[in-house]
Amino acid sequence: MAVRIAPSILAADFTRLGEQVAEAEASGGDLIHIDVMDGRFVPNITMGPLVVEAARRSTSLPLDVHLMIVEPERYIADFADAGADRITVHIEASPNLHRTLQSIHAAGCAAGVALNPHTPAASLSEIMHMVDVILVMTVNPGFGGQSFLAEILPKIRQLRTMIVDSGRQIDLGVDGGIDTTTVQQVVAAGADVLVAGSSIFSKQFSVQHGIQQLQAALIKG
Ligand code: DX5
Ligand code: ZN
Repeated sequence: MAVRIAPSILAADFTRLGEQVAEAEASGGDLIHIDVMDGRFVPNITMGPLVVEAARRSTSLPLDVHLMIVEPERYIADFADAGADRITVHIEASPNLHRTLQSIHAAGCAAGVALNPHTPAASLSEIMHMVDVILVMTVNPGFGGQSFLAEILPKIRQLRTMIVDSGRQIDLGVDGGIDTTTVQQVVAAGADVLVAGSSIFSKQFSVQHGIQQLQAALIKG
């Protein structure tokens, strides 16, 4: 199974966002992950469609937009117009998930569903036929730099089984606390997209170094 790396720009230096995104692409990043937070679904406030547009101008990699916002259905067209390729909403924020996923597809994007730590894998059982991306939160959403929650590993395994049983091509991403010490565990459990912020963007090392270290840890596993 090919494992892809999605650098999360939440940890990037925003004074030179374009350069950092371009460096992530040049260093072998596969997707650019953009964390949208509204101060309501999660305590933090981050970025919106303007930043997605700016990232769009800096890379040809797919833009993976993670909406940690209430009523995500209100903003799908805005993020699609800004250049998103994949839009992921939280199941906990989406009482009409079926309709929301239809809207994401109608906007021309791949449709993702994110699960908070307490949300069971089975909550997706009736919607698997519409999902292109599952994003398992391995921290509580809202902030970069938190510690990986190992208790989520069984859920990753369950979701991998559900994906195989569905017979569909569905990406299984993990988000939060992904670094050289955790990549092997999540990949062994079945994840194939690794979202990583602070292990890639840091003042201490280059983006290239961060991505290479993750790749090296994957090979060792
Ligand atoms: C957290 C965000 C993540 C964040 C991960 O709510 O969804 O994408 O950037 O950051 P790290 O990799 O530092 O845990
Ligand atoms: Zn994210």
